[in-house]
Amino acid sequence: PTVTITLDPAFRIAPVRRRTFGSFVEHLGRCVYTGIYEPGHATADEAGLRGDVIELTRELGVTSVRYPGGNFVSGYKWEDGIGPVEQRPARHDLAWHSTEPNTFGLDEFMGWIEKVGVEPMYAVNLGTRGVEEALDVLQYANAPRGIALSEERAANGHPEGYGIRMWCLGNEMDGPWQTGHKTAEEYARIATEAARAMRQEDPELELIACGSSSSSMETFGAWENTVLTEAYDHVDMISAHAYYAEHDGDQGSFLASAQDMDYFIESVVATADHVRAKLKREKRIHVSFDEWNVWYQSRAESRPPSGEDWPVAPVLLEDHYTAIDAVVVGNLLISLLRHSDRVASASLAQLVNVIAPIMTEPGGRAWKQTTFHPFALTARHATGEVLRLAIDAPTYENARFGESAIADSVATWDQESGELTLFAVSRATEGELDLAVDLSAFGDLELVEAVTVHHEDPYAQNTADAPETVAPRPLSSAALGDGRLTAALPAISWSMLRLR
Ligand code: AHR
Repeated sequence: PTVTITLDPAFRIAPVRRRTFGSFVEHLGRCVYTGIYEPGHATADEAGLRGDVIELTRELGVTSVRYPGGNFVSGYKWEDGIGPVEQRPARHDLAWHSTEPNTFGLDEFMGWIEKVGVEPMYAVNLGTRGVEEALDVLQYANAPRGIALSEERAANGHPEGYGIRMWCLGNEMDGPWQTGHKTAEEYARIATEAARAMRQEDPELELIACGSSSSSMETFGAWENTVLTEAYDHVDMISAHAYYAEHDGDQGSFLASAQDMDYFIESVVATADHVRAKLKREKRIHVSFDEWNVWYQSRAESRPPSGEDWPVAPVLLEDHYTAIDAVVVGNLLISLLRHSDRVASASLAQLVNVIAPIMTEPGGRAWKQTTFHPFALTARHATGEVLRLAIDAPTYENARFGESAIADSVATWDQESGELTLFAVSRATEGELDLAVDLSAFGDLELVEAVTVHHEDPYAQNTADAPETVAPRPLSSAALGDGRLTAALPAISWSMLRLR
């Protein structure tokens, strides 16, 4: 089969937003403890931050990191995690049936953020708590010296405020599993009140209301409508969360997961714009896709402990990703990029060990999962403007979506550097796809690099002993001539072609 694409520098969607390449650190399993934080580890600094993980995080190209949850935040007392470590209380974390030792908290996280050189995104607890505690953590984090909470921060060794701009108003409050779960009306009230108060403290904050935990929630659409109708003037973004997995060997449906992400984003945008019309407002609400990934939720690693067992930092949600998972992750990034006009922020959930591109051994090595590669390459090379492309691709049938295009693609064009980058996915499970891209509108270009993430065995994984099993390899079939770029995309592959 042949896939044809026509590209033109005039057809721009929006600038590539750096915040598209965010990630997420939750107090969950080994994401914090033995993930980013492990005092005594051979690469750890005096604060206990693992240097190997910091290096890999930088290489991943992450731009912002959401913290401290996730479901965890809906029962979290942020003040448990500040002050002298030996005085901090341990508590039950109800979300993950674990014991939270609180030896890592806001100040340690901000130390890590500064060391990595990324932007923080902080979530407040609107499950068991409310407006007052949201204001408290905001003042502790950001207020200049001279009030009780900023003086407490200074006494803890941090005289300067952290200047955190992005704040999530709770987490997945639409989900019945959430501690303090709320109806849309209840959540709309508390989120609006929290937002109003936080803006009284600092009108410049960027606030994110909880949207839906997936497009298949029964309340999807209605939830966004109710929440935004009340909160419209007080928030900037509404969140979206989505996780995908292959079920019963159905590769075709799994490979088309980005089709659901497209549907999700476009539905939330339509709902937000409906509320805009209803309220007769100028301002537009953007989407914060602040949890997305492949996640095999039905596997044993995703089941929290139970009964008397409340472990500290257990092995939880430690998915070992395959080549096909990497292709789907790359395709989800294509979907996010193509919606750059309305997706203002996104976070790959999560960063380390917990459904993560980076894995660690306690006291040992750190390595890249398969999904690391499409993320790192997209974060590095998607620059300038996202281009709308005309694509003509055959379709195939699958159980979940009925029909899906056999290929998906997006391109970015950086006029200043002259870099044109094409990201393309083959969803074909067998045989090569012939790709033909008409670039005649760009004038003279050279092919700089063509790589693909693909493995003969779609279930091949990376391990600490064989960390390069699935990694980008040259796409040697790529060629450029007479304003036409051609390549043979391998079955189940994600590729990047760079021109200048
Ligand atoms: O990322 C794992 C979990 O998925 C988060 O804690 C929660 O917000 C979502 O359901």
